[in-house]
This record gives sequence, structure tokens and C-alpha cells, in this order.
Amino acid sequence: MSKHGNVILVGPMGAGKSTIGRQLAQLLSYEFVDSDHEIEARTGADIPWIFDVEGEEGFRRREQAVIDQLTLRDGIVLATGGGAVTREENRRVVSARGIVVYLKTSIEQQLTRTAKDRKRPLLQHAEPRKVLTELMKTREPLYQEVADYVVDTDASNIKDVASEIARLI
Ligand code: S3P
Repeated sequence: MSKHGNVILVGPMGAGKSTIGRQLAQLLSYEFVDSDHEIEARTGADIPWIFDVEGEEGFRRREQAVIDQLTLRDGIVLATGGGAVTREENRRVVSARGIVVYLKTSIEQQLTRTAKDRKRPLLQHAEPRKVLTELMKTREPLYQEVADYVVDTDASNIKDVASEIARLI
């Protein structure tokens, strides 16, 4: 492990950030943390409820606070939410405090992996494909901007992706 003592996973919904992150943490003997879970644990509310009551802006404020606090630790693998990179402060913080890995994933895979999921407010829409495509247009450059490494999660299985990342960093 070279640059910093944290690994931070970015990428869209359905990229496999949590599943890969958990595996990777095990391989590195790091602690796994997930910013969405942390927000839910701290508020005692789930993400859809936070979006309903506080709007996306309220959720983003909470997300920023959690990412800032979690990355002050050392030796974590952090799975961030798909929209974390939209805040400049988050981009600055993740770049400074960890090795950032962008899990690149096709819209097709994202759709498959999120199909039965009701926990993502942005996908409660008649045309999730359209939503994911639009989000990707604005977010892809931001994922690329913060990434130290870009890893494709379409081709290989989760275990292979985690081992590939462990080898890279
Ligand atoms: C979001 C992604 C979600 C969650 C929230 C918003 C987004 O996280 O943070 O629903 O804006 O893309 P995952 O990427 O873990 O699904």
C-alpha cells in the first residue's frame, strides 16, 4: 500500500461498491464502512425517508459530514454513495485522504443490480434507464477526476475485482 491508508470507492448505483468494498476490506485487513449505512445509523432513518423529509439537499449535507468524518480515520475501505462526487468538497476530501478507485459499470449492469431495489429514491421513476444514463453523463467526468484507478466491474466477478484492486494499490 503506497499513498494513503484508506481506500475510497466511487461509482454509480449498482457498481458493486458495498460488495466489493467488503471483500477488499477483508483482503487488506481494513475496516469496511459505507457512507449510506453510516447516515442511516446516525439518523435512525432510511435513505428514502431522508430524501422525503429533507430533500436531496438535506441528504447531501449529511453525506458530506459523514464522508468528512469517516475519512479522518486510517485503515478503512469506504463505499461512497453514487452522488457523493457531485459535491466539490467531497471530491477534495476523498482525493486527499485515500486511494480513490472508480468502479466503472455499464448502464445495463447497473439496471440489473438495482432492479428489485426500493432503497434508492432517485430510481423510483418510470424510466430508471433514462435516469441512470442522465446521471452518468454528468457524473462520469467527476468519477474520472477523482480516480487514482479505474476498475471495470462488468467483466469479472466481485471476488476477482476485489483482488485486482488489492494488487493495484
Ligand atoms: C445515490 C446513490 C445511493 C444513495 C442515494 C443517492 C445517488 O448510493 O447514496 O440513494 O445519487 O447516486 P449507492 O450508490 O450506494 O446506491
